[in-house]
Amino acid sequence: METSFLLPFSLMLLITTLNIFFTLTLSATLTDSTTDQDALLEFKNAITVDTNGVLSNSWLTNSSICEWAGVTCGVKHHRVTALNLSNFALHGKLTPHLGNLTFLQTLDVSSNNFTGVLPTELSKLHRLKHVNATSNNFTGEVPRGILTNMSSLEDIDLRYNKLSGELPSDICNNTPKLKRLFLSINQIYGKIPRNIYKCSKMEELKLSRNMFNGNIPTQVGNLSMLTYLSISYNDLQGDIPRQIGNLSSLLGLDLASNKLAGNIPYSLFDLSSLEFMHLSRNNLSGSIPTNLDNLRNLQTLDLTMDNLTGEWNNLSSTHLSLVHNWLSTFA
Ligand SMILES: *[C@@H]1O[C@H](CO)[C@@H](O)[C@H](O)[C@H]1NC(C)=O
Ligand SMILES: *[C@@H]1O[C@H](CO)[C@@H](O)[C@H](O)[C@H]1NC(C)=O
Ligand SMILES: *[C@@H]1O[C@H](CO)[C@@H](O)[C@H](O)[C@H]1NC(C)=O
Ligand SMILES: *[C@@H]1O[C@H](CO)[C@@H](O)[C@H](O)[C@H]1NC(C)=O
Ligand SMILES: *[C@@H]1O[C@H](CO)[C@@H](O)[C@H](O)[C@H]1NC(C)=O
Ligand SMILES: *[C@@H]1O[C@H](CO)[C@@H](O)[C@H](O)[C@H]1NC(C)=O
Ligand SMILES: *[C@@H]1O[C@H](CO)[C@@H](O)[C@H](O)[C@H]1NC(C)=O
Ligand SMILES: *[C@@H]1O[C@H](CO)[C@@H](O)[C@H](O)[C@H]1NC(C)=O
Ligand SMILES: *[C@@H]1O[C@H](CO)[C@@H](O)[C@H](O)[C@H]1NC(C)=O
Ligand SMILES: *[C@@H]1O[C@H](CO)[C@@H](O)[C@H](O)[C@H]1NC(C)=O
Ligand SMILES: *[C@@H]1O[C@H](CO)[C@@H](O)[C@H](O)[C@H]1NC(C)=O
Ligand SMILES: *[C@@H]1O[C@H](CO)[C@@H](O)[C@H](O)[C@H]1NC(C)=O
Repeated sequence: METSFLLPFSLMLLITTLNIFFTLTLSATLTDSTTDQDALLEFKNAITVDTNGVLSNSWLTNSSICEWAGVTCGVKHHRVTALNLSNFALHGKLTPHLGNLTFLQTLDVSSNNFTGVLPTELSKLHRLKHVNATSNNFTGEVPRGILTNMSSLEDIDLRYNKLSGELPSDICNNTPKLKRLFLSINQIYGKIPRNIYKCSKMEELKLSRNMFNGNIPTQVGNLSMLTYLSISYNDLQGDIPRQIGNLSSLLGLDLASNKLAGNIPYSLFDLSSLEFMHLSRNNLSGSIPTNLDNLRNLQTLDLTMDNLTGEWNNLSSTHLSLVHNWLSTFA
């Protein structure tokens, strides 16, 4: 204090000038990684219980954020590219400041005890490819921006939470890379939006054990890369769209435990890659083809508790469940 007071004016000026110089040159590179640190510290602040003490022991400001447990940085810019806190036994909420981690590509907070909403600010992260928040206690809606406008998103797993609300009707408007959308085991209701067909790269769509109602949109049949479609244990009604028979890559179809009615479209029995088809516990009626030879890879066909009639001929399935129908073997 005293020395600085006594410093000659010219030296003071020089120090001030240097100070301004460093501030100006360093700010461009430093601000952004400070933003990352701020965002992570806000994240840590919103943790109420850190059961194993991982964050309290490792997320300390005397070390670089790139060395913090669960944090991965880019080699060149030292910006946070991945945050993987899967199974860290954390309780708390996700801070909106996560939306400031501009370079984030992977966010895995699965298998913790997070509550509260998924911050809508996550949809600001244009580079985000992988999101896993399964097995927590998240509530509220899936933020609209996440399902409509994330140009790099490839997979999002939000299963085993308490999410509710409806899916936005403009889902998939700008999520051209989305391959896996997992929302099973939540409390989401309303219709499955027709706009789903715009996720043209979709491979696995899992919506089971929610409260979806209305019809299965025929546009599901346009998801030509689809390998798994499960919408079991919902409140779906109406017919099974015959367009599902166009999904030639389909390996698994699970529409069990809904209120689907009408005939099973014969097109489904031509899906030669199909390994399982679960349509049990609906109100399907009519008959199934006598010849199921086109289902060359079928391992399980479950049609129990429907209202089917008819005869079938020769099915080489290893597991076949047709009980509680009116079917008989064709000798
Ligand atoms: C950082 O600070 C903590 C306590 O606040 C201390 O235990 C640890 O040794 C320090 N680490 C380094 C690298 O200085
Ligand atoms: C996160 O870490 C866990 C445990 O190390 C690992 O199994 C999982 O694949 C990682 N998640 C991602 C998205 O890489
Ligand atoms: C980070 O995000 C929060 C909340 O979204 C915002 O209020 C804040 O201004 C942001 N901070 C920086 C440094 O960008
Ligand atoms: C999400 O994480 C869980 C483990 O916590 C894992 O079983 C699951 O496969 C992951 N989801 C995706 C899409 O990778
Ligand atoms: C998660 O948190 C809730 C409420 O704080 C608590 O009742 C529950 O036991 C916790 N679950 C686990 C697996 O820690
Ligand atoms: C969610 O909360 C319930 C009770 O509030 C608790 O029993 C359960 O363990 C929690 N789940 C997780 C994954 O923490
Ligand atoms: C989509 O995201 C971009 C980038 O975050 C943003 O500029 C744009 O306003 C968003 N569009 C809509 C329709 O939300
Ligand atoms: C969806 O598929 C149907 C045929 O099943 C086709 O007529 C229609 O043009 C397709 N729609 C789009 C948007 O690709
Ligand atoms: C869907 O399948 C029908 C026959 O079931 C066929 O006529 C039609 O061209 C197919 N549409 C597409 C888009 O593959
Ligand atoms: C099942 O469908 C039949 C017509 O095929 C209808 O009469 C009946 O009410 C339906 N049952 C249920 C439980 O929806
Ligand atoms: C089965 O279908 C018949 C008519 O096709 C209908 O009368 C009956 O109610 C249906 N059974 C169930 C359990 O829905
Ligand atoms: C039944 O299928 C088996 C093997 O899939 C085949 O060898 C046999 O000829 C078929 N029988 C009839 C009557 O089609």
